[in-house]
Amino acid sequence: MIKDSDRVVVRGLRDVAAAETRLSYVDVNGFLYYLGYNIDDLVERVTYAEVAYLLIHKQLPNQQQLDNFRTELRFAMKLPDPIVDSITRTPKHCHPMDVLRTEVSHLAEYDPENNDFSDSANMRRAIRLIAQVPTILATVHRSRLNQQVPEPKREFCFAQNFLYMFKGVVPDEAETNVIHRYMSLHADHGFNASTFAARVTASTNSDMYSAVTSAIGTLKGPLHGGASEKVMEMLDDINLEEEVEEYINGLLDDQKKIMGFGHRVYRAQDPRTKHLRGMLEDLSHRDRTLGLYRKCVKIEETVYGRKKIYPNVDFYAAVAMDALGVPKEFFTSFFAASRISGWVAHVIEQYEDGVLLRPASKYVGEFNRPFVPIENR
Ligand code: ACO
Repeated sequence: MIKDSDRVVVRGLRDVAAAETRLSYVDVNGFLYYLGYNIDDLVERVTYAEVAYLLIHKQLPNQQQLDNFRTELRFAMKLPDPIVDSITRTPKHCHPMDVLRTEVSHLAEYDPENNDFSDSANMRRAIRLIAQVPTILATVHRSRLNQQVPEPKREFCFAQNFLYMFKGVVPDEAETNVIHRYMSLHADHGFNASTFAARVTASTNSDMYSAVTSAIGTLKGPLHGGASEKVMEMLDDINLEEEVEEYINGLLDDQKKIMGFGHRVYRAQDPRTKHLRGMLEDLSHRDRTLGLYRKCVKIEETVYGRKKIYPNVDFYAAVAMDALGVPKEFFTSFFAASRISGWVAHVIEQYEDGVLLRPASKYVGEFNRPFVPIENR
Protein backbone atom coordinates (compact mmCIF):
# COMPACT_ATOMS: atom_id res chain seq x y z
CA MET A 1 0.00 0.00 0.00
CA ILE A 2 1.43 3.38 -1.01
CA LYS A 3 1.64 5.98 1.76
CA ASP A 4 -0.58 9.04 1.14
CA SER A 5 2.43 11.36 1.18
CA ASP A 6 4.18 9.29 -1.53
CA ARG A 7 1.27 9.43 -3.96
CA VAL A 8 1.94 11.24 -7.23
CA VAL A 9 -1.04 13.05 -8.70
CA VAL A 10 -1.26 12.71 -12.48
CA ARG A 11 -3.18 15.87 -13.27
CA GLY A 12 -6.01 15.20 -15.70
CA LEU A 13 -4.94 11.50 -15.73
CA ARG A 14 -2.77 12.46 -18.72
CA ASP A 15 -1.05 9.36 -20.17
CA VAL A 16 -2.45 7.11 -17.41
CA ALA A 17 -3.68 3.76 -18.79
CA ALA A 18 -6.75 2.92 -16.68
CA ALA A 19 -7.51 -0.47 -18.29
CA GLU A 20 -6.78 -2.59 -21.33
CA THR A 21 -9.00 -2.35 -24.42
CA ARG A 22 -9.17 -4.12 -27.77
CA LEU A 23 -11.75 -1.74 -29.21
CA SER A 24 -9.80 1.24 -30.49
CA TYR A 25 -6.30 2.64 -30.47
CA VAL A 26 -5.53 6.35 -30.63
CA ASP A 27 -1.96 6.73 -31.88
CA VAL A 28 -0.30 10.03 -30.90
CA ASN A 29 1.29 10.14 -34.35
CA GLY A 30 -2.12 10.68 -35.92
CA PHE A 31 -3.64 7.24 -36.54
CA LEU A 32 -6.84 5.69 -35.26
CA TYR A 33 -7.67 1.97 -35.28
CA TYR A 34 -11.00 0.22 -34.62
CA LEU A 35 -10.40 -3.43 -33.59
CA GLY A 36 -7.09 -3.32 -35.45
CA TYR A 37 -8.45 -1.72 -38.64
CA ASN A 38 -6.96 1.64 -39.57
CA ILE A 39 -9.92 4.00 -39.99
CA ASP A 40 -8.40 5.17 -43.27
CA ASP A 41 -9.13 1.66 -44.61
CA LEU A 42 -12.71 1.69 -43.33
CA VAL A 43 -14.09 5.17 -44.06
CA GLU A 44 -15.84 5.37 -47.45
CA ARG A 45 -15.71 1.55 -47.75
CA VAL A 46 -18.10 0.61 -44.95
CA THR A 47 -21.43 1.88 -43.72
CA TYR A 48 -21.87 3.09 -40.15
CA ALA A 49 -23.88 -0.07 -39.33
CA GLU A 50 -20.81 -2.16 -40.23
CA VAL A 51 -18.67 -0.08 -37.85
CA ALA A 52 -21.26 -0.44 -35.06
CA TYR A 53 -21.35 -4.21 -35.69
CA LEU A 54 -17.54 -4.33 -35.62
CA LEU A 55 -17.42 -2.54 -32.26
CA ILE A 56 -19.95 -4.71 -30.45
CA HIS A 57 -19.18 -8.09 -32.13
CA LYS A 58 -15.43 -7.42 -32.50
CA GLN A 59 -15.46 -8.51 -36.17
CA LEU A 60 -16.75 -7.11 -39.44
CA PRO A 61 -20.04 -8.68 -40.56
CA ASN A 62 -20.51 -10.73 -43.73
CA GLN A 63 -23.43 -9.68 -45.97
CA GLN A 64 -25.95 -11.96 -44.23
CA GLN A 65 -24.90 -10.78 -40.76
CA LEU A 66 -25.09 -7.16 -41.90
CA ASP A 67 -28.57 -7.62 -43.40
CA ASN A 68 -29.78 -9.21 -40.16
CA PHE A 69 -28.15 -6.48 -38.06
CA ARG A 70 -29.78 -3.72 -40.13
CA THR A 71 -33.18 -5.38 -39.74
CA GLU A 72 -32.60 -5.72 -35.99
CA LEU A 73 -31.64 -2.04 -35.76
CA ARG A 74 -34.61 -0.91 -37.85
CA PHE A 75 -37.10 -2.73 -35.60
CA ALA A 76 -35.32 -1.48 -32.48
CA MET A 77 -35.62 2.16 -33.64
CA LYS A 78 -39.20 2.33 -32.39
CA LEU A 79 -39.42 4.05 -29.01
CA PRO A 80 -41.83 3.02 -26.25
CA ASP A 81 -44.90 5.33 -26.40
CA PRO A 82 -44.27 6.89 -22.93
CA ILE A 83 -40.80 8.00 -24.12
CA VAL A 84 -42.32 9.69 -27.17
CA ASP A 85 -44.94 11.38 -24.94
CA SER A 86 -42.25 12.53 -22.54
CA ILE A 87 -40.14 14.03 -25.35
CA THR A 88 -43.09 15.92 -26.81
CA ARG A 89 -43.77 17.46 -23.39
CA THR A 90 -40.23 18.81 -22.84
CA PRO A 91 -39.92 22.61 -22.99
CA LYS A 92 -38.82 23.66 -26.48
CA HIS A 93 -35.91 25.70 -25.12
CA CYS A 94 -34.29 22.59 -23.53
CA HIS A 95 -30.97 21.63 -25.06
CA PRO A 96 -31.32 18.36 -27.04
CA MET A 97 -28.46 16.86 -24.98
CA ASP A 98 -30.51 17.45 -21.82
CA VAL A 99 -33.49 15.67 -23.36
CA LEU A 100 -31.28 12.84 -24.63
CA ARG A 101 -29.67 12.36 -21.21
CA THR A 102 -33.07 12.20 -19.53
CA GLU A 103 -34.70 9.92 -22.08
CA VAL A 104 -31.85 7.40 -22.17
CA SER A 105 -32.21 7.16 -18.41
CA HIS A 106 -35.99 6.93 -18.86
CA LEU A 107 -35.59 4.02 -21.33
CA ALA A 108 -34.36 1.86 -18.42
CA GLU A 109 -37.93 1.90 -17.06
CA TYR A 110 -39.22 0.29 -20.28
CA ASP A 111 -36.43 -2.21 -20.80
CA PRO A 112 -38.15 -5.37 -22.03
CA GLU A 113 -35.49 -7.48 -20.29
CA ASN A 114 -35.57 -5.72 -16.97
CA ASN A 115 -33.26 -7.35 -14.41
CA ASP A 116 -31.66 -9.71 -16.95
CA PHE A 117 -28.01 -8.72 -16.92
CA SER A 118 -26.73 -11.77 -18.79
CA ASP A 119 -24.22 -11.23 -21.62
CA SER A 120 -26.86 -11.97 -24.27
CA ALA A 121 -29.36 -9.53 -22.71
CA ASN A 122 -26.64 -6.86 -22.55
CA MET A 123 -25.85 -7.41 -26.24
CA ARG A 124 -29.53 -6.96 -27.16
CA ARG A 125 -29.68 -3.89 -24.91
CA ALA A 126 -26.60 -2.46 -26.66
CA ILE A 127 -28.27 -2.90 -30.06
CA ARG A 128 -31.47 -1.26 -28.83
CA LEU A 129 -29.50 1.73 -27.53
CA ILE A 130 -27.57 2.11 -30.81
CA ALA A 131 -30.97 2.22 -32.56
CA GLN A 132 -32.96 4.29 -30.05
CA VAL A 133 -30.57 7.19 -29.40
CA PRO A 134 -30.99 8.43 -33.02
CA THR A 135 -34.78 8.04 -32.78
CA ILE A 136 -34.85 10.12 -29.59
CA LEU A 137 -33.10 12.94 -31.46
CA ALA A 138 -35.37 12.66 -34.48
CA THR A 139 -38.37 12.81 -32.13
CA VAL A 140 -37.03 15.87 -30.29
CA HIS A 141 -36.44 17.72 -33.56
CA ARG A 142 -39.65 16.77 -35.39
CA SER A 143 -41.89 17.32 -32.36
CA ARG A 144 -40.49 20.86 -32.03
CA LEU A 145 -41.60 21.41 -35.63
CA ASN A 146 -45.00 19.87 -34.77
CA GLN A 147 -44.30 17.08 -37.23
CA GLN A 148 -44.31 13.28 -37.03
CA VAL A 149 -41.18 11.17 -37.27
CA PRO A 150 -41.46 9.08 -40.46
CA GLU A 151 -41.19 5.29 -40.18
CA PRO A 152 -37.72 3.97 -41.05
CA LYS A 153 -37.63 2.48 -44.55
CA ARG A 154 -36.71 -1.15 -45.14
CA GLU A 155 -34.56 -0.30 -48.18
CA PHE A 156 -32.47 2.33 -46.32
CA CYS A 157 -29.41 1.54 -44.29
CA PHE A 158 -29.32 2.60 -40.66
CA ALA A 159 -27.52 5.96 -40.89
CA GLN A 160 -29.64 6.96 -43.88
CA ASN A 161 -32.80 6.15 -41.92
CA PHE A 162 -31.55 8.28 -39.02
CA LEU A 163 -31.09 11.30 -41.27
CA TYR A 164 -34.41 10.64 -43.00
CA MET A 165 -36.27 10.39 -39.68
CA PHE A 166 -34.51 13.50 -38.33
CA LYS A 167 -35.12 15.72 -41.37
CA GLY A 168 -38.35 14.19 -42.64
CA VAL A 169 -37.04 14.15 -46.22
CA VAL A 170 -35.16 11.44 -48.06
CA PRO A 171 -31.43 12.28 -48.01
CA ASP A 172 -29.70 12.41 -51.41
CA GLU A 173 -26.66 10.29 -52.22
CA ALA A 174 -24.13 12.96 -51.18
CA GLU A 175 -25.88 13.47 -47.82
CA THR A 176 -26.06 9.71 -47.26
CA ASN A 177 -22.33 9.40 -47.88
CA VAL A 178 -21.65 12.23 -45.44
CA ILE A 179 -23.74 10.75 -42.62
CA HIS A 180 -22.06 7.31 -42.98
CA ARG A 181 -18.61 8.85 -42.88
CA TYR A 182 -19.49 11.26 -40.06
CA MET A 183 -21.00 8.51 -37.87
CA SER A 184 -18.19 6.04 -38.61
CA LEU A 185 -15.53 8.62 -37.71
CA HIS A 186 -17.26 9.45 -34.43
CA ALA A 187 -18.00 5.87 -33.36
CA ASP A 188 -15.11 5.28 -30.97
CA HIS A 189 -11.94 6.90 -29.71
CA GLY A 190 -10.11 5.06 -26.94
CA PHE A 191 -10.60 6.21 -23.35
CA ASN A 192 -12.00 9.65 -24.18
CA ALA A 193 -13.74 11.39 -21.28
CA SER A 194 -17.31 10.23 -22.03
CA THR A 195 -16.24 6.61 -22.68
CA PHE A 196 -14.23 6.63 -19.48
CA ALA A 197 -17.27 7.98 -17.60
CA ALA A 198 -19.38 5.14 -19.04
CA ARG A 199 -16.76 2.59 -18.01
CA VAL A 200 -16.51 3.96 -14.46
CA THR A 201 -20.28 3.58 -14.07
CA ALA A 202 -20.25 0.10 -15.65
CA SER A 203 -17.36 -0.92 -13.39
CA THR A 204 -19.69 -0.78 -10.39
CA ASN A 205 -21.85 -3.39 -12.21
CA SER A 206 -24.46 -0.72 -12.75
CA ASP A 207 -26.76 -1.10 -15.77
CA MET A 208 -26.02 0.01 -19.33
CA TYR A 209 -28.55 2.89 -19.26
CA SER A 210 -26.81 4.40 -16.24
CA ALA A 211 -23.43 4.07 -17.95
CA VAL A 212 -24.67 5.72 -21.16
CA THR A 213 -26.39 8.48 -19.16
CA SER A 214 -23.03 9.24 -17.50
CA ALA A 215 -21.39 9.32 -20.93
CA ILE A 216 -23.97 11.71 -22.40
CA GLY A 217 -23.51 14.15 -19.52
CA THR A 218 -19.76 14.04 -20.06
CA LEU A 219 -19.88 14.45 -23.84
CA LYS A 220 -21.99 17.58 -23.46
CA GLY A 221 -19.13 19.72 -22.11
CA PRO A 222 -17.50 22.20 -24.53
CA LEU A 223 -14.05 20.71 -23.84
CA HIS A 224 -15.36 17.43 -25.31
CA GLY A 225 -18.28 16.91 -27.73
CA GLY A 226 -19.83 20.30 -27.05
CA ALA A 227 -17.01 21.98 -28.99
CA SER A 228 -18.61 21.62 -32.46
CA GLU A 229 -21.58 23.78 -31.42
CA LYS A 230 -19.12 26.43 -30.22
CA VAL A 231 -17.22 26.14 -33.52
CA MET A 232 -20.42 27.00 -35.39
CA GLU A 233 -21.01 29.99 -33.09
CA MET A 234 -17.48 31.18 -33.94
CA LEU A 235 -18.09 30.72 -37.69
CA ASP A 236 -21.36 32.63 -37.39
CA ASP A 237 -19.51 35.40 -35.52
CA ILE A 238 -16.92 35.85 -38.28
CA ASN A 239 -18.72 37.58 -41.12
CA LEU A 240 -16.07 37.35 -43.83
CA GLU A 241 -13.08 35.16 -44.58
CA GLU A 242 -10.95 38.34 -44.55
CA GLU A 243 -11.85 38.91 -40.87
CA VAL A 244 -10.56 35.52 -39.72
CA GLU A 245 -7.00 36.52 -38.82
CA GLU A 246 -8.01 39.50 -36.71
CA TYR A 247 -10.74 37.52 -34.94
CA ILE A 248 -8.52 34.53 -34.11
CA ASN A 249 -5.54 36.66 -33.11
CA GLY A 250 -7.85 38.64 -30.82
CA LEU A 251 -8.99 35.46 -29.04
CA LEU A 252 -5.43 34.14 -28.71
CA ASP A 253 -4.16 37.52 -27.44
CA ASP A 254 -6.84 37.25 -24.72
CA GLN A 255 -5.50 33.74 -23.85
CA LYS A 256 -8.78 32.20 -25.02
CA LYS A 257 -8.95 28.69 -26.45
CA ILE A 258 -10.09 28.23 -30.02
CA MET A 259 -12.90 25.70 -30.06
CA GLY A 260 -12.28 22.67 -32.27
CA PHE A 261 -8.49 22.84 -31.82
CA GLY A 262 -6.03 20.88 -29.71
CA HIS A 263 -6.20 17.34 -28.45
CA ARG A 264 -5.16 15.48 -25.33
CA VAL A 265 -3.56 12.59 -27.25
CA TYR A 266 -2.64 13.55 -30.83
CA ARG A 267 0.57 15.42 -31.35
CA ALA A 268 0.07 15.23 -35.13
CA GLN A 269 -3.01 15.91 -37.28
CA ASP A 270 -6.17 14.22 -35.97
CA PRO A 271 -6.59 11.38 -38.52
CA ARG A 272 -10.32 12.10 -38.79
CA THR A 273 -9.78 15.67 -39.98
CA LYS A 274 -8.70 14.77 -43.53
CA HIS A 275 -11.85 12.68 -44.01
CA LEU A 276 -14.07 15.46 -42.70
CA ARG A 277 -12.32 17.96 -44.99
CA GLY A 278 -12.86 15.56 -47.89
CA MET A 279 -16.56 15.32 -47.07
CA LEU A 280 -16.86 19.09 -47.25
CA GLU A 281 -15.02 19.23 -50.54
CA ASP A 282 -17.67 16.82 -51.88
CA LEU A 283 -20.34 19.31 -50.78
CA SER A 284 -18.52 22.42 -51.97
CA HIS A 285 -21.06 23.00 -54.76
CA ARG A 286 -23.24 24.41 -51.98
CA ASP A 287 -22.44 28.10 -51.54
CA ARG A 288 -22.94 28.18 -47.76
CA THR A 289 -20.78 25.09 -47.19
CA LEU A 290 -18.03 26.44 -49.44
CA GLY A 291 -18.07 29.79 -47.60
CA LEU A 292 -17.83 28.09 -44.18
CA TYR A 293 -15.16 25.71 -45.44
CA ARG A 294 -13.01 28.60 -46.67
CA LYS A 295 -13.29 30.33 -43.30
CA CYS A 296 -12.29 27.06 -41.61
CA VAL A 297 -9.19 26.66 -43.77
CA LYS A 298 -8.16 30.22 -42.90
CA ILE A 299 -8.78 29.61 -39.19
CA GLU A 300 -6.71 26.41 -39.36
CA GLU A 301 -3.80 28.30 -40.98
CA THR A 302 -3.99 31.14 -38.45
CA VAL A 303 -4.18 28.89 -35.36
CA TYR A 304 -1.36 26.68 -36.63
CA GLY A 305 0.75 29.76 -37.36
CA ARG A 306 0.37 31.04 -33.80
CA LYS A 307 0.07 27.89 -31.65
CA LYS A 308 1.28 24.99 -33.82
CA ILE A 309 -1.86 23.05 -32.93
CA TYR A 310 -4.22 21.21 -35.28
CA PRO A 311 -7.99 21.06 -35.56
CA ASN A 312 -9.70 18.13 -33.81
CA VAL A 313 -12.72 16.12 -34.95
CA ASP A 314 -15.19 18.78 -33.77
CA PHE A 315 -13.87 21.51 -36.09
CA TYR A 316 -14.81 20.40 -39.60
CA ALA A 317 -17.62 18.23 -38.19
CA ALA A 318 -19.49 21.45 -37.42
CA VAL A 319 -19.57 22.40 -41.10
CA ALA A 320 -20.47 18.83 -42.13
CA MET A 321 -23.46 18.93 -39.77
CA ASP A 322 -24.46 22.34 -41.11
CA ALA A 323 -24.25 20.98 -44.67
CA LEU A 324 -26.63 18.19 -43.69
CA GLY A 325 -29.13 20.78 -42.48
CA VAL A 326 -28.70 19.86 -38.80
CA PRO A 327 -29.37 22.84 -36.49
CA LYS A 328 -26.32 23.67 -34.36
CA GLU A 329 -27.99 22.85 -31.05
CA PHE A 330 -28.16 19.22 -32.31
CA PHE A 331 -24.47 18.92 -33.23
CA THR A 332 -23.35 17.33 -29.95
CA SER A 333 -26.29 14.97 -29.96
CA PHE A 334 -25.37 13.72 -33.47
CA PHE A 335 -21.97 12.99 -32.00
CA ALA A 336 -23.74 11.03 -29.22
CA ALA A 337 -25.88 9.18 -31.79
CA SER A 338 -22.63 7.93 -33.36
CA ARG A 339 -20.50 7.42 -30.21
CA ILE A 340 -23.28 5.31 -28.66
CA SER A 341 -21.86 2.28 -30.50
CA GLY A 342 -18.45 2.86 -28.88
CA TRP A 343 -19.97 3.51 -25.47
CA VAL A 344 -21.99 0.29 -25.35
CA ALA A 345 -19.02 -1.71 -26.70
CA HIS A 346 -16.83 -0.30 -23.92
CA VAL A 347 -19.51 -1.00 -21.30
CA ILE A 348 -19.59 -4.65 -22.42
CA GLU A 349 -15.78 -4.79 -22.36
CA GLN A 350 -15.78 -3.28 -18.86
CA TYR A 351 -18.29 -5.89 -17.62
CA GLU A 352 -15.95 -8.55 -19.05
CA ASP A 353 -12.98 -7.01 -17.21
CA GLY A 354 -14.96 -7.06 -13.97
CA VAL A 355 -12.79 -4.64 -12.01
CA LEU A 356 -14.00 -1.60 -10.09
CA LEU A 357 -12.49 1.64 -11.44
CA ARG A 358 -11.74 3.61 -8.33
CA PRO A 359 -8.59 5.77 -8.23
CA ALA A 360 -6.95 7.21 -5.16
CA SER A 361 -6.68 10.89 -4.37
CA LYS A 362 -3.93 12.79 -2.67
CA TYR A 363 -5.34 14.58 0.35
CA VAL A 364 -4.00 18.12 0.66
CA GLY A 365 -6.46 19.39 3.29
CA GLU A 366 -6.08 19.95 7.03
CA PHE A 367 -6.19 17.46 9.93
CA ASN A 368 -7.51 17.71 13.49
CA ARG A 369 -9.31 21.02 13.14
CA PRO A 370 -10.86 21.96 16.49
CA PHE A 371 -14.61 21.39 16.37
CA VAL A 372 -16.69 24.49 17.14
CA PRO A 373 -20.36 23.99 18.18
CA ILE A 374 -22.86 25.71 15.86
CA GLU A 375 -23.80 28.40 18.39
CA ASN A 376 -20.16 29.54 18.53
CA ARG A 377 -19.42 29.61 14.77
N1 ACO B 1 -6.79 26.97 -28.46
C1 ACO B 1 -5.66 27.60 -28.10
N2 ACO B 1 -4.68 26.99 -27.43
C2 ACO B 1 -4.85 25.71 -27.12
C3 ACO B 1 -5.99 24.98 -27.48
C4 ACO B 1 -6.98 25.68 -28.17
N3 ACO B 1 -8.10 25.06 -28.55
N4 ACO B 1 -5.88 23.71 -27.07
C5 ACO B 1 -4.71 23.62 -26.45
N5 ACO B 1 -4.08 24.83 -26.49
C6 ACO B 1 -2.77 25.14 -25.93
C7 ACO B 1 -2.92 25.44 -24.44
O1 ACO B 1 -3.15 26.80 -24.19
C8 ACO B 1 -1.60 24.96 -23.94
O2 ACO B 1 -0.63 25.92 -24.27
P1 ACO B 1 0.54 26.30 -23.24
O3 ACO B 1 1.33 25.01 -23.08
O4 ACO B 1 1.25 27.38 -23.93
O5 ACO B 1 -0.15 26.68 -21.96
C9 ACO B 1 -1.29 23.73 -24.79
O6 ACO B 1 -1.97 23.97 -26.02
C10 ACO B 1 -1.76 22.42 -24.17
O7 ACO B 1 -3.18 22.56 -23.90
P2 ACO B 1 -3.93 21.84 -22.73
O8 ACO B 1 -5.20 22.56 -22.44
O9 ACO B 1 -3.01 21.58 -21.58
O10 ACO B 1 -4.26 20.43 -23.39
P3 ACO B 1 -5.22 19.37 -22.79
O11 ACO B 1 -4.72 18.08 -23.26
O12 ACO B 1 -5.42 19.53 -21.31
O13 ACO B 1 -6.63 19.75 -23.45
C11 ACO B 1 -8.35 19.98 -24.98
C12 ACO B 1 -7.10 19.19 -24.60
C13 ACO B 1 -9.34 20.02 -23.81
C14 ACO B 1 -9.02 19.29 -26.15
C15 ACO B 1 -7.91 21.42 -25.37
O14 ACO B 1 -7.10 21.34 -26.51
C16 ACO B 1 -9.11 22.33 -25.60
O15 ACO B 1 -9.64 22.90 -24.65
N6 ACO B 1 -9.55 22.50 -26.88
C17 ACO B 1 -10.71 23.32 -27.18
C18 ACO B 1 -11.99 22.55 -26.96
C19 ACO B 1 -12.19 21.45 -27.98
O16 ACO B 1 -12.03 21.65 -29.17
N7 ACO B 1 -12.58 20.27 -27.48
C20 ACO B 1 -12.85 19.10 -28.33
C21 ACO B 1 -11.75 18.08 -28.16
S1 ACO B 1 -12.00 16.69 -29.21
C22 ACO B 1 -13.23 15.84 -28.46
O17 ACO B 1 -13.35 15.77 -27.30
C23 ACO B 1 -14.19 15.17 -29.30
